Amino acid sequence: MKHGDLLVFGASSVVTQVDGVAGDSLVVVDGKIAAVGQERDLRAQWSVKKEQDLSGKLLVPGFVDAHTHPVFAQGRAEEFDWRAQGMDYLEIAKKGGGIYSSVRAVRECEESALLEKVILHFEWMQEKGTVACEAKSGYGLSLDAELKSLRVIAQASAKTGMEVAPTFLGAHMIAEEFRDRPEAYVDLLCEEMLPAVVEEGLAVAADVFIEEGAFSLAQGRRYLECAKDLGLALRIHADQFNELGGVQLAVELGAQSVDHLEALSDAGLEALAMSRKTHAGLLPAVPHFLRQSMNAPARKLLDAEVPYFIATDFNPGSCYTASLPEAAHFARVRMNLTAAEALWGVTAGAADSLGLGGRLGRLAPGFDAKWVALDIPDLHYFGYRFG
Ligand code: NIG
Ligand code: FE
Repeated sequence: MKHGDLLVFGASSVVTQVDGVAGDSLVVVDGKIAAVGQERDLRAQWSVKKEQDLSGKLLVPGFVDAHTHPVFAQGRAEEFDWRAQGMDYLEIAKKGGGIYSSVRAVRECEESALLEKVILHFEWMQEKGTVACEAKSGYGLSLDAELKSLRVIAQASAKTGMEVAPTFLGAHMIAEEFRDRPEAYVDLLCEEMLPAVVEEGLAVAADVFIEEGAFSLAQGRRYLECAKDLGLALRIHADQFNELGGVQLAVELGAQSVDHLEALSDAGLEALAMSRKTHAGLLPAVPHFLRQSMNAPARKLLDAEVPYFIATDFNPGSCYTASLPEAAHFARVRMNLTAAEALWGVTAGAADSLGLGGRLGRLAPGFDAKWVALDIPDLHYFGYRFG
């Protein structure tokens, strides 16, 4: 007999997302999955210290949210009303609202109070089955406030057990005090902020918002090249409202992902299809939240076999939900993805995009023992029973 720590049995099935691995039960040893199979076969081979009966629930890999902005001090619910009255997202930002109002709040917030907020946000994600997330700074836009944001991400991860891939998003917007000299802000990012972040080991990736009113393509390139030279992985916000060439830049620089893509053209799609490395980050709850009819052309991207993930984009301005099952619902309804495609997007695809696909996003021998037991009859119900 082999010795295990835990036998989990009685699932309606285990969705392993690994070919040739199937069953209704699994065995855990030292926090890793040691075996997946039928209960009877596993009981014949393993003696275990503990057992857990899943009573027919569907066992799926723990969710991975590969695009979140959890470091904010307060919500922006008033903007939700302004949009109901016809103001659009970029218009609100131009008036000094939007991201800038979150920046003012984060700068004023004490580190300990900000930590409490981020802990709460990670707990919201965990309640919905998220076991790991990418977490961006980006509401600081000064050396101090960005370092504070990244420190708080690390502390909240330790407190909650949420596994985090931290991303420096000092290039979320041109900081307000640099509005009339944006190049000087890019200098600050390249010469001071990026080196400090790397020196303190506070981020594994860098991100930039390439968009009208945020960073131009040339500014984005300069910043991303600095980040890459310093050894950071790249993740990019592009083609949300306007196509400025950020997708082609992402592919050229070998970015891990390029996210949003509501304005993606056929040329951008082709660049992604050629890359096979840069993931398309699908954020289907965002246009819903912003009352937009446009969606990223997910069906075309999947048909072209572009690697992809589905994320919440959790943030106070463009998507105030921490729920990946909800994002999966919007992917199914607005993008015509199947349940299996949506599940892949919030598990294996997301983990792969973060370089964590050898450990997370699948349930098979050698993977981390992190799963969600869903109280639904079968996989077709995923994203169908929404919220
Ligand atoms: O991914 N698009 C840029 N950044 C965020 C929104 C940030 C905000 O509105 O606070 C996004 O949608
Ligand atoms: Fe975002």
